[in-house]
Amino acid sequence: MAHLISGLHHLTSCVAGAQEDIDFFTKIIGQRMVKQTVLFDGTLPIYHLYYGNANAEPGSIMTTFPFKQAGIYGRKGSGQVKVTGYSVPTASLGFWVERFRQYNVPHDPIAERFGQKYLRFYHPAGLEFEMIGDDNDDRVPWSTDEVPAEVGVRGLHTITLSLRETFESERFMIEALGFRKTGQEGAYTRFEIGKGGAGCTIDFLHEPDVPAGSWTFGVGTVHHVAFAVRNDEEQAKVKAFLEGLGYTDVSESKDRNYFHSIYVRMPGGVLFEIATTDIGFATDEPADQLGKKLLLPPWFEHRREEIISALEPISVP
Ligand SMILES: [Fe+2]
Repeated sequence: MAHLISGLHHLTSCVAGAQEDIDFFTKIIGQRMVKQTVLFDGTLPIYHLYYGNANAEPGSIMTTFPFKQAGIYGRKGSGQVKVTGYSVPTASLGFWVERFRQYNVPHDPIAERFGQKYLRFYHPAGLEFEMIGDDNDDRVPWSTDEVPAEVGVRGLHTITLSLRETFESERFMIEALGFRKTGQEGAYTRFEIGKGGAGCTIDFLHEPDVPAGSWTFGVGTVHHVAFAVRNDEEQAKVKAFLEGLGYTDVSESKDRNYFHSIYVRMPGGVLFEIATTDIGFATDEPADQLGKKLLLPPWFEHRREEIISALEPISVP
């Protein structure tokens, strides 16, 4: 399957309030607001907010569900994504330390893993992020008055999973998805796919003493990480391949309006998604106007008034 999955597609987390999330990602981090829509599953009105780089391309997309409104809180732990890593130029890390000080964003000292400097910082909902220094990433960052392009986020870099045990999960990464094991450093194991590096890397963090975290949507936890394939045909091949290996809990393909998705829980408990890249975010609004207004999928349009009145009012850049 190595030739089908090209790298990361997006990452989806449950946050607390919608406005504080928008302010965090667009103002402090300087990402582009790519889409305002709602959770497609179930009947509860919950925003689904998308952020990305200048081209809103797969591999740069961070999405959030602000679940505080529904009063549902998650429990962090193993069997979950622990850290979402963004790709920035190495020389920008000093800028980011200063910026996090200025905006009172909790952060740790700059550290190093697999020869790359990184800066760990924390979202208002307690989610863990890293700015990972990488000078081999030519994706185009969004830029703002305060976050110019030379220091801007290029896209996702590495997603770190917390796992109680890793043997079956390692086999899943390599045999089922086509990743290569490329490094081992302390409790970390690195896997890369496709061209490798930024946007194509998963780190396992072996944490045998950390109890399992919750799996459902809940404030303060990452819900899933998505990998990219080109189209429905490739996605169907991945699904058939996974099922052939005995991973029989792969979902049917779901219409996410901007991509089609299948979901499978990997052996260590983390929810993985395989999403297509051939539709994109310019399907229901112009590419230069992304994220400026709330868009609903066709099957929710008849509930527009009810949904809007139930949601926290937000203002976007
Ligand atoms: Fe997703």
